[in-house]
Amino acid sequence: MPTAPLLTLNDGHKIPAVGFGTYPMKDQEVETAVQAALLTGYRLIDTAASYENETGVGNALQNSEIERSNIFLTTKLRGADQGYDAALAGLDASLQRLNVDYVDLYIIHWPLPKLDKYIESWKAMIVAQKDGKIRSIGVSNFKPHHLDRLIQETGVVPVVNQIEIHADFPQTDMCAFNAQHNILTEAWSPLGKDLMDNPTIKALAEKHNRNPAQIMLRWETQLNIIPIPKSSNPDRMRANLEIFDFTLDEDDLAAIAKLDTNNRIGGDPDTYEEF
Ligand SMILES: NC(=O)c1ccc[n+]([C@@H]2O[C@H](COP(=O)([O-])OP(=O)(O)OC[C@H]3O[C@@H](n4cnc5c(N)ncnc54)[C@H](OP(=O)(O)O)[C@@H]3O)[C@@H](O)[C@H]2O)c1
Repeated sequence: MPTAPLLTLNDGHKIPAVGFGTYPMKDQEVETAVQAALLTGYRLIDTAASYENETGVGNALQNSEIERSNIFLTTKLRGADQGYDAALAGLDASLQRLNVDYVDLYIIHWPLPKLDKYIESWKAMIVAQKDGKIRSIGVSNFKPHHLDRLIQETGVVPVVNQIEIHADFPQTDMCAFNAQHNILTEAWSPLGKDLMDNPTIKALAEKHNRNPAQIMLRWETQLNIIPIPKSSNPDRMRANLEIFDFTLDEDDLAAIAKLDTNNRIGGDPDTYEEF
C-alpha cells in the first residue's frame, strides 16, 4: 500500500506529506471516496464546513477500521462563522457533523479582509486548541500582510497556510514567506487546470514513466509543499499517492519553474468573499 511520509508541524505534530481533497463531493459520494482513499493509503483527509460534506466524511471515518489516531483530519472555518463566539460554535457544529471529539487541523478558510474578523476567529481557535478540540491551527489563502498581522496581534504562528498552487501558479514568494515563518504550505488545486496536456509536463511524464499528475504532485512534494489532490476514481487516487519512489532532478525542476504564468484559477484573497 502506498503511504506518504510524515512532516513535522511547527507545534510538533506530524502531518502526512500528501492529503486527499474532498471538494466538491457531497455526502454520498464523499463517503465512498474517503473510504476508498483510506483503503488506498491516504491518512490526511481535507474537508471544510463550506463543502457541506462533513457528515459523509465522518461516516467514512466511523466505518473505517483505521484508528482515529492514525488519521489526520482537517476541516475549515467558513466565512459565515467568523468572529469569536461564532467560530467556537462553528467548530462545535463541524465536530458534531464529523462525529469526532477533535480535528487534527482547523483552518480559517479565507481571510475575508472586508469582514475583518480573522483575528477574533484566530483567538477563538487558540482557546479551542487549549480545550483539546483542535490539535493544530492553521489558515488558508492568507497573504504575507494577513499573516504578519495575525502573528503580531496574537503571537501564535499558524502551522499551515493552504493556498492555490499549481505548475503555472507556483506562488514562489508566498511559499518562501511561509517557509521563513516555519509555516508549512499546503497546495489546493495541485493539478491546476489544463496542465495534463502541457508539453513540459508530458515530456517529464514520459522521461520518468509516470503520468502527468504524478509529475506535478512529485514536484510539489519536492518543494516541501503538501498537495491535497481530489479524485473520485480509485485508480487515480492510488496514482496520486504513488509518487515517492522517483525523484525529479534539477533540470526537471528548472523546466517546471519556467511554466509560471501567474495563472490564478480561484479568488484573490484580498478581495474574494465567500460565506
Ligand atoms: N482552501 C481552499 O480555499 C481550497 C480551494 C479549493 C480546493 N481546496 C481543497 O483542495 C482539494 C484539491 O483541489 P481541487 O479539487 O480544486 O483540484 P485538484 O485536486 O488539483 O484536481 C481535481 C481534479 O483533477 C482530476 N484528477 C485527480 N487526479 C487525477 C489524475 N491522476 N489524472 C487526471 N485527473 C485527475 C479529478 O477528477 P476525478 O475525481 O474524476 O479523478 C478532478 O477533476 C479540494 O478537493 C479541496 O479539499 C481548498
